[in-house]
Amino acid sequence: MSWIVSSSLTYFQRFCVNVIKCGPIPRHIAFIMDGNRRYATKTKVEKAEGHIKGFDKLAETLQWCLELGVKEVTVYAFSIENFKRSREEVDTLMKLATEKFRQLLDEKEKIMSEGVCIRIIGNLGLLSPELRKLVAEAELMTKDNNKAFLNVAFSYTSRDEIFNTVQSIVKGVQDEALDVEDIDEDLISGALYTSCSPDPDLIVRTSGEVRFSDFLLWQISNSFISFTKVLWPEFCIWHLLACIFYYQRSYNDLQQKKARVTSERAQKFLHQLQQQKITQLKSYT
Ligand code: FPP
Ligand code: MG
Repeated sequence: MSWIVSSSLTYFQRFCVNVIKCGPIPRHIAFIMDGNRRYATKTKVEKAEGHIKGFDKLAETLQWCLELGVKEVTVYAFSIENFKRSREEVDTLMKLATEKFRQLLDEKEKIMSEGVCIRIIGNLGLLSPELRKLVAEAELMTKDNNKAFLNVAFSYTSRDEIFNTVQSIVKGVQDEALDVEDIDEDLISGALYTSCSPDPDLIVRTSGEVRFSDFLLWQISNSFISFTKVLWPEFCIWHLLACIFYYQRSYNDLQQKKARVTSERAQKFLHQLQQQKITQLKSYT
């Protein structure tokens, strides 16, 4: 299945989408797509097939989010912890990702006409040169799109992200690009892999597991969390609408985000970091 699919909603489902759209819609939703292997066991298919169904569900979910007017989606596609799975499974997931990112580049026209900006958040250094090149090309190809944003967390954990951020800030101080007094929460947020994104409004985790698994730990302090029992490949529009409905019920209680005030010097340092990232991505291609 391709990354961009056409709408599969029935007339009644579209009506319900429009009803939900009368309330506040989260600007940014993050998904922990869990339960692919349990789905494979349940339906007596190979694990690889469970992950393929997981990707298909991701494409379908992105289409629902576009229809709902959700501007940004972040998905946990592969954690650094996942490298500890069997060699066979890691290879399968890497092969699937390679195939899907190659397909994404082949579907350039479709992606560009939808105006989707794709970013890969994670430790790209842990990926094979082939996959690194593909994700870098995908990111560079779509970097100026701004109708919708898809962040794929791949080779990602929050602890690794925070560790890398601390290292880059320490280097900034050593190189005298920053003063110690410039370091505040906004500077740290701006130096994370997710620096270009607002924090998620809603986090959805499927499969009944009630934990965060090292996903966006810095970014979710004010997010609404929805845990649902359904396995990811079985997630459907009704589950998504239910998550948004609960978000809407709590909307007024959710804290207003504080205005961001970042010093001029810190802004300059963050700009330098962005430029370094673009140069790094270009070196991978
Ligand atoms: C969690 O289910 C799922 C994953 C570790 C992989 C998710 C990957 C995809 C949905 C494909 C995405 C691919 C791209 C290129 C974006 P699990 O394996 O932990 O299953 P379990 O919880 O039942 O054991
Ligand atoms: Mg799991």
